[in-house]
Amino acid sequence: MTPNDRFLKACRHEPVDATPVWLMRQAGRYMSEYRRLREKHSILECIKTPELAAEITFQPLKAFDLDAAIIFADILTLPEAMGLQLEFIGGEGPVFHNPIRHTDDIDRLHDIDPAEALGFTIDAIKLVTRELNGRLPLIGFSGAPFTLACYAIEGSGSRHFALAKSFMYQQPDAWHRLLDRLATTIGHYLAAQTAAGAVALQLFDSWVGILSPQDYAEYVLPHTQKALALATAKHKVPCIHFGTETATLLPAIATSGANVIGVDWRILLQEAWSLIGPDKAIQGNLDPTVLFAPPEHIRQAAREILDAVKGQTGHIFNLGHGVLPRTPTEHVAVLIDEVHRHTATAPSP
Ligand code: CP3
Repeated sequence: MTPNDRFLKACRHEPVDATPVWLMRQAGRYMSEYRRLREKHSILECIKTPELAAEITFQPLKAFDLDAAIIFADILTLPEAMGLQLEFIGGEGPVFHNPIRHTDDIDRLHDIDPAEALGFTIDAIKLVTRELNGRLPLIGFSGAPFTLACYAIEGSGSRHFALAKSFMYQQPDAWHRLLDRLATTIGHYLAAQTAAGAVALQLFDSWVGILSPQDYAEYVLPHTQKALALATAKHKVPCIHFGTETATLLPAIATSGANVIGVDWRILLQEAWSLIGPDKAIQGNLDPTVLFAPPEHIRQAAREILDAVKGQTGHIFNLGHGVLPRTPTEHVAVLIDEVHRHTATAPSP
């Protein structure tokens, strides 16, 4: 079978035979195969057992005609490895039982070698890489310094991230120390994922859209730049920067060092592209709830996005955020089919 390199070509702004598509959270609860495994194993067990993580990574690849794999893991295992006690509480989401609230808490964080401390994900990447055998590209990922700091300080998800932002404004030196430590660890973690076989990387800064452009530039951007520079110091793989509600931050995010910028559905894709500049590739941006609409609506919504950037190289189709639980799997197949069918430049062999 010829290797599918559409995704990597689009990351590099090269022409493709059809627009590549993959979905954030393409493995997860909307799939019955995943739910069956989760009846027997906790989410952390799934992540920390390389064979299970590899199996889950393949579930959506077997079900759908996706153009990239993403390793099954979570952004919160990195702060856990640095000493924060993580628990996934059913119905509530992830919680850190000992969040960072004082400057001393930062000094108590462990200095880790992520290749060791997060060796389960590195091993899962090796397993998946071996099994993929070059057929599909594998994406590695990490949370970004800001989003991980928010979780580490709040101890859970939050609407306004008032604790995290108070920490940022009241103790800026400690804030920068925390983000610098996270950036270093994230950079080394991503580099280890590439060394293990990941051929592209995505940095999830999911919550960064709560910041003003001034605060983003001052409190976050230098740390994101450091993480991405460390990540690609040795292997120059394409890096995707993802965030939500980033419309006002896009010109700054474009200077993060990422080659591809992921955007959510709250901005028109073509408008986002003009803000990040034509030299960057772009990923997005269908509203994940559109997958609950009837098939013909899904197809039309996909075509609207595709037509808006028609003829331009460097578009990777994705949702604007992760696939939601209870999304009908047939609708995921419909979406992928429409992206490929509508953009195919040559008849399929
Ligand atoms: O994309 C993929 O298929 C790879 C797997 C992946 C997971 N988490 C598995 C997971 C990825 C890329 C993530 C990233 C992640 N994790 C982010 C950034 C992306 C985003 O959605 O903004 C964030 C913020 C987290 C933290 C996290 N993990 C939360 C808030 C939750 C609970 C969410 C919920 O819907 O309950 C998780 C749990 C989690 N991580 C699940 C999956 C498939 C659902 C867990 C389950 O099986 O119960």
